[in-house]
Amino acid sequence: VAVTSTAIVHAGQLVTNDETRGGDLLGSVRDGAVVFEAGRVQWVGESAQLPQGAGDTLVDAEGRCVLPGFVDSHSHLVFAGDRVTDFVASTTGASYEPAGIRSTVRATRSAPTETLAAGARRLRHEALRSGTTTMETKSGYGLTTPDEVRGCAVASDVFDDATFLGAHVVPEEFDDDSDAYVALVTGEMLAACSELVRFVDVFCERGAFDEDQARAVLRAGAAVGLHGKVHANQLEEGPGVLVAVEEGALTADHCTYLSGHDVDLLASGTTVATLLPITEFATRTAHADGRRLLDAGARVALATNCNPGSSYSTSMPLAIALAVRHQGLTPDQAIAAATKGGAAALGRDDVGVLRVGARADVVVLEAPSPAYLAYRPGVELVARIFKDGVDVGASH
Ligand code: NIG
Repeated sequence: VAVTSTAIVHAGQLVTNDETRGGDLLGSVRDGAVVFEAGRVQWVGESAQLPQGAGDTLVDAEGRCVLPGFVDSHSHLVFAGDRVTDFVASTTGASYEPAGIRSTVRATRSAPTETLAAGARRLRHEALRSGTTTMETKSGYGLTTPDEVRGCAVASDVFDDATFLGAHVVPEEFDDDSDAYVALVTGEMLAACSELVRFVDVFCERGAFDEDQARAVLRAGAAVGLHGKVHANQLEEGPGVLVAVEEGALTADHCTYLSGHDVDLLASGTTVATLLPITEFATRTAHADGRRLLDAGARVALATNCNPGSSYSTSMPLAIALAVRHQGLTPDQAIAAATKGGAAALGRDDVGVLRVGARADVVVLEAPSPAYLAYRPGVELVARIFKDGVDVGASH
């Protein structure tokens, strides 16, 4: 079978995220072109410099913006049922309660695996249509060894990266002994799940797991080669960020309520702060201060946190618009956080960037610059999507 190459030319703004290009934060090329073959980027530059004969298939972007596909580094998409009743109650005053996770656990445990997989595939496809070419998801609605194995298996089958979140909440049957549940998570459950995933995550929050328990989960994961992630400082100030940084976790996610010390820790370390603004929007809480983190020098990622309780949206364009409107990011900072920031949050350098050798994950916008994603919220601007070099078509 002949390998065919594709050249996208005349991008009004080609976002490369390639720091070696200099220029703006996004490594932008005016009237840019990108060539890819066999799923990898082969050439990037100005359209006028396009090598002769490049691209068996030529796509003329006609001045539209072309950028790397979005990298959504935080979601919870292996579940059954929904929590629309809780959401409707929240519109007249009830606040978001992590206890609601347990109702999704009950529904998930009683669902056939094929139902979980079909739901996960549907949501992965939905995300792809809004430009998400790399997506992580977590287990965490099983909370028994066989149910978490099922969750991790579906997550790794359907998504690009998978995370073991046995330490999501303490299940009902361990109400009186959360330490015994942590022993199960760090012992038998981790051993059964670790081969299926790259990351281990823990919800470190009042009502979930405390500082010592979170450290135990991260250390057990690290001992079997898993990168750490922490749900940190979502509902109030607490030890989550401290634990993440001190334990060398790859990311601290949420970061809604941070002390000055937390900001300093994130600024001086390598742990990526992952902002999840759809959560704050959907649960009507205060927003994380993304500008404060960036000004301090922290590395920031942007993700959807799509889940049935606190943030039921797969839309990275929505996350970008909210980060700009409510978290103090400039449009360019939000685009960077949604692409190369997401890649950093997954410990990857082959996505979120358009440079030679990177994956050919490319989005064409129905707009001349990426700022339009924030400027025109709620409008479907993702016009065309290539994943691994394959044209997966128009978004709608
Ligand atoms: O990130 N914080 C914990 N987990 C999810 C919520 C999951 C749920 O409510 O089902 C979150 O918001």
